[in-house]
Amino acid sequence: MGIIKERFRKKADEVSAEIKEIVKTHGSKKIGEVTLAQVYQGMRGITGLVTETSLLDANEGIRFRGYSIPELQASLPKVKGGSQPLPEGLFYLMLLGTLPTEEEVNHVTSTLQRRSHVPNYVFDTIESLPVNAHPMTQFVVGIMALQTESSFAKRYAEGMSKKDYWDATYDDALDLIARLPRIAAYIYRRKYRNGDHIQPNGLLDWSGNFAHMMGYDDESFKELMRLYMTIHADHEGGNVSAHTTHLVGSALSDPFLSFAAGMNGLAGPLHGLANQEVVKWIFEMREQLGVELPSNEQIEQYVRKTLSEGKVVPGYGHAVLRKTDPRFTAQMEFGRQHMPDDALVNTVWRIYEVVPPILSSLGKVKNPWPNVDAHSGALLVHYGMVEYEFYTVLFGVSRALGVLASLCWDRALGMPLERPKSVTTELVKRWLDGKDEIWEG
Ligand SMILES: CC(C)(COP(=O)(O)OP(=O)(O)OC[C@H]1O[C@@H](n2cnc3c(N)ncnc32)[C@H](O)[C@@H]1OP(=O)(O)O)[C@@H](O)C(=O)NCCC(=O)NCCS
Repeated sequence: MGIIKERFRKKADEVSAEIKEIVKTHGSKKIGEVTLAQVYQGMRGITGLVTETSLLDANEGIRFRGYSIPELQASLPKVKGGSQPLPEGLFYLMLLGTLPTEEEVNHVTSTLQRRSHVPNYVFDTIESLPVNAHPMTQFVVGIMALQTESSFAKRYAEGMSKKDYWDATYDDALDLIARLPRIAAYIYRRKYRNGDHIQPNGLLDWSGNFAHMMGYDDESFKELMRLYMTIHADHEGGNVSAHTTHLVGSALSDPFLSFAAGMNGLAGPLHGLANQEVVKWIFEMREQLGVELPSNEQIEQYVRKTLSEGKVVPGYGHAVLRKTDPRFTAQMEFGRQHMPDDALVNTVWRIYEVVPPILSSLGKVKNPWPNVDAHSGALLVHYGMVEYEFYTVLFGVSRALGVLASLCWDRALGMPLERPKSVTTELVKRWLDGKDEIWEG
């Protein structure tokens, strides 16, 4: 058994014993109340899940195992001469709960390199789709094709014991994380570079190799990928991609099936697709105004036009966050360092000045501040990655780190089949009339 797997088993055994004790002693304590409005309105604010890898604070933003993004930037190992964290280190942190040393991160990198072979039939399956299929559709189809490689599915069919579920999940999680960059880069080159594919470079780190296979060998683009893969990796457990992966995994669907399900959720415009919407919206604004760098007044008029057409301003608002997303801020700092004069990046910064007061003035938007998607596209366009339909795939590769680390924990902790109670409006009305008990399921 590899050393990381062994450490994970030890840690999971400890946490599992601790949780058993907590539930035994305190299991009947109430941790909240549920209102009817919450039931109808997306279950916001209902605590109903345990996700060990990260925790979201409405004002502070995301913390991964207690560490904020600036803290991770300061303390996670980097490539020689680099200033962004290696996302392999974040995976180690999310999985084991402790910051890795440089040597430990190198170990994760080489484990992923060893597991990164993608069988040819996966590419053939992608090739059977029309080239104009959305990159997220091609991505999910590629993941599903790879599912034939699942150790979990194989071992389950052979009668694997419950106590080994975590072991097979761990193997699948690492295989998937190792192979996703190759699949994603294949889709990018197929769709946007006439199928002129680039072989992996086994000497590079996970994100550096991903950048290389997409055709971007500029060192600062590789740094951007390291940052991008780090900040998009996890956002606690209730967001659509994390929750879906966890939910489908609770049926003991293997990690390939579970992750593909999560990626279908990420492909929705209110979740991961928003990053493509932001760049599309800015490109359309520039085209309509006929200027490269619109003034604040021009942006304001365009924002008002968007709202008057009954559309949302993409990249702004959040279901949980109530301040500027620290993932936005981290990207803004990257922009200041690497491309302070870029017109598109400056447009993003002007939008940041203009939009919050307008959204606040509507009186209904709970969070007028930018989220992660408001900035990411502009940085990618700077390096020539203008194909905004692809951005959600980048998000998906990164998100694998968090949701698959969580899936390892789900199986290690023996999390059961998830099955919340639902009601009908008919029952709600009977309950309001005092005729029925609603909460029995
Ligand atoms: C992220 C998002 C889906 C959160 O939804 P939510 O939790 O329901 O947001 P709120 O509770 O603040 O929504 C209350 C109202 O404000 C509106 N609102 C929220 N964000 C808005 C935005 N960026 N532009 C315009 N209106 C917005 C909602 O559409 C809703 O209007 P309604 O009552 O007429 O239906 C929402 O803010 C949004 O659509 N943002 C744009 C898309 C985006 O950036 N998604 C990426 C998320 S990481």
